[in-house]
Amino acid sequence: MKIERITDLERQYAIESLNGQFETHNNYKFVVRLEKAFAEKIGTKHAVGFVNGTATLHTALEAAGVTAGDEVIVPPLTMSSTCFAVLMANAIPVFADIEEDTFLISAKEIENRITEKTKAVIVVSLFGLMPDMDAVMDVARRHRLVVIEDDAQCFMGSYKGHMAGTIGDMASFSFQASKHLTSGEGGIVTTDSDEYGLNLRRFSGLGYGSISTKKARISKDDIQDPLYERHYSLGWNYRMSDVVGAVALAQTERMDELCSCRMEAGKIIEAAMSGCEWLIPQHTPQECVHAYWTAAARIVNPSVDWYTFRRKFMELGGDGIYAAWKLNYLEPAFRNKNFMGREIFFEGYTYQEGLCPVAEKIQPQLLQFKTNYWDTDEAIQQAEILKKTIKYFES
Ligand SMILES: Cc1ncc(COP(=O)(O)O)c(C=O)c1O
Repeated sequence: MKIERITDLERQYAIESLNGQFETHNNYKFVVRLEKAFAEKIGTKHAVGFVNGTATLHTALEAAGVTAGDEVIVPPLTMSSTCFAVLMANAIPVFADIEEDTFLISAKEIENRITEKTKAVIVVSLFGLMPDMDAVMDVARRHRLVVIEDDAQCFMGSYKGHMAGTIGDMASFSFQASKHLTSGEGGIVTTDSDEYGLNLRRFSGLGYGSISTKKARISKDDIQDPLYERHYSLGWNYRMSDVVGAVALAQTERMDELCSCRMEAGKIIEAAMSGCEWLIPQHTPQECVHAYWTAAARIVNPSVDWYTFRRKFMELGGDGIYAAWKLNYLEPAFRNKNFMGREIFFEGYTYQEGLCPVAEKIQPQLLQFKTNYWDTDEAIQQAEILKKTIKYFES
């Protein structure tokens, strides 16, 4: 399979958007089309466009009613935005450990971390694989927690036939450059709830009172009226720009093609590890479709360390291998609670080693192989290099 990541369709829509001169009646035309197309493709009632996939998470928490001092459960092994969003909402990230085979947040560990302050949980479809959502939703419903899926890395992944973005109360996607679909930067939230849909739009649009789930713009008559009261509540300006929306719409219309190519590459890379006892790929349960944002694996060979393996792979022609992020609570920002004044909410909370032993064991072993090859022949070449690297250390 060979495709182009950016085609004439993206170019055409971007030019059309620019030709609109950003006139008030044209501004957001493509964002509106994107939201409709994305919601239809994922299978939710609403989708709301954002500047990025961090603003999405922050706003989803606010939309869920998370307020200062509330606790939100998150996995420690994820890109920082998942956890920073909780801090942005003035809430407290509480870390729940992961499963050893899937590297994903454990529903049992979520339940163990629930207190009377817990309001929500953000589950991350890490590397493109959805967590055990039946178990997560069961815990959440019993404890009246809002579930936010962080699907930044999981376009068209699924769990028991349900597409990523359709199971939790809200789901966040990112269009940042490394993602399956991209507009350089950008993000979108899906939800079936009218209440959350309205909140998402309001809080990402400066709290404008006349904004509704369907209506992202304010009428000229309203905005020009000297007595018009604009602000229903505090809000942020997290709105997606129309040119970005134009590119994201084209990518959404090409979602099948873009995701299949990446998924195929992921499977090719992963297959190269089969039979190797010391490279253990992320386990994909039968009920899941993996979206392969990357192909992740643990290296557990006592005589080959992470750095030696990576060096050899690259020496043989392999592309760079990425580690997984340090666990969020072991980053200086958390260890030192450099929370820009929010420290006052954190009395009694410490972020230190020992919080999530499984994640602490696994994180230093993780290798992420690239899957963003738009020609699967390149993935096949990389897979051959991976096989050679494995053979080198086994001979
Ligand atoms: C899991 C996860 N959550 C959130 C984000 C944040 O998205 P963005 O970069 O669009 O803000 C990313 C990616 O960058 C991510 O990988």
